[in-house]
Amino acid sequence: MAFNELNFDFSDLLASHQYREPLVVRGIRCHGGYNDSGNYVSPRTRNRVPAIRAWQDRYKQEFGQPLLDRAVEETPPHYPNLAQAKLLLCNGIREPMIRTLTRIGTVEGFGAGIRFGAVDDIGRHFVEDLAGTATAHLTRGLYEAHARDEAGFEDQAGHKQMWWAARDIAFENPPVQDLTVEMRRAMGMPAEPLPPAELLRRMAEQALKDRLLPRDIDPMLEAQVARMMRLLLIEINAFHGFRWAESILADDSLVAGDGDAARIISYVRGDETPHLEYLKCALSEIRERTFRGESGRTYPARELINALWQRALATSTQRSIEGRNAELAEITTALEGHPRGDDLLEEFHALGQVRPVADGNWINNTNS
Ligand SMILES: [Fe+2]
Ligand SMILES: [Fe+2]
Repeated sequence: MAFNELNFDFSDLLASHQYREPLVVRGIRCHGGYNDSGNYVSPRTRNRVPAIRAWQDRYKQEFGQPLLDRAVEETPPHYPNLAQAKLLLCNGIREPMIRTLTRIGTVEGFGAGIRFGAVDDIGRHFVEDLAGTATAHLTRGLYEAHARDEAGFEDQAGHKQMWWAARDIAFENPPVQDLTVEMRRAMGMPAEPLPPAELLRRMAEQALKDRLLPRDIDPMLEAQVARMMRLLLIEINAFHGFRWAESILADDSLVAGDGDAARIISYVRGDETPHLEYLKCALSEIRERTFRGESGRTYPARELINALWQRALATSTQRSIEGRNAELAEITTALEGHPRGDDLLEEFHALGQVRPVADGNWINNTNS
């Protein structure tokens, strides 16, 4: 297949490379595999990766604009940082790290829902033709490949199980608690997964409450775009988590597994790149187009998309503060009852870029 092509079928975008050997971790068949050189190759990337590149090239040629993006460095660093996490592990406090790995795997599993919640025919909401764009392929393979990468599919495990496998290797099958309900609550999701129709109904209901776009534009389209922005920011921010987890899991003096756990996480990280790239591309394409409202009235998308993006950035910052508070609460609990708990907590805070103060806020740490 030549990659000056811009139009693909669902099955093209789901196609994987031929692997010399599949990826099997602790007896679990995972997605992806090894090529003839022994390098890991991400699943469903045979056509998806070159297709995304072709759509991005087309976008840049057509509009001469950079893609909608946010640098990893602009997103909050991982909390606790590397030195703080190492301090805890060196002192035998493993529970917070084990819970973090459980939590990340759990959230990856929520990615199964990405395949739902899209408008039926996105093209009818725009004045311009969407043929040959990433946007036109969201429901023609991009969302489905993303969902499968995160949550696994049929007999192949995905990121959810890969994070948990890394945890079980590094900490030698620790006792773990199911954090699904807790994480659903933390992310503002209902306690139980909803049937797709109900999920769509609630998304539309929420979109009507939070409207930024003119009322004339389908609220489901707004909900879909807002969700893509939320996902993109989660994916960008996750790169701090990858660097952090890989450094810790590669350290033989801290964890078991001779670096195997870090290797699995590096594969997961590699799989994430197409997620970032298609989301950036489709959101940028939408930004340069013109919405068509239900009345037939038209609206240039640029300012509207920028307003949605600003709101997504603010929400993402708020979520990371909430996440930091939750992490600290767990660490404080884990230190309770430790003979040097108070001293360790102070040492822990001294190593951070930020530290909590009495009124519940965080300040920059002048010591670091
Ligand atoms: Fe993932
Ligand atoms: Fe992802």
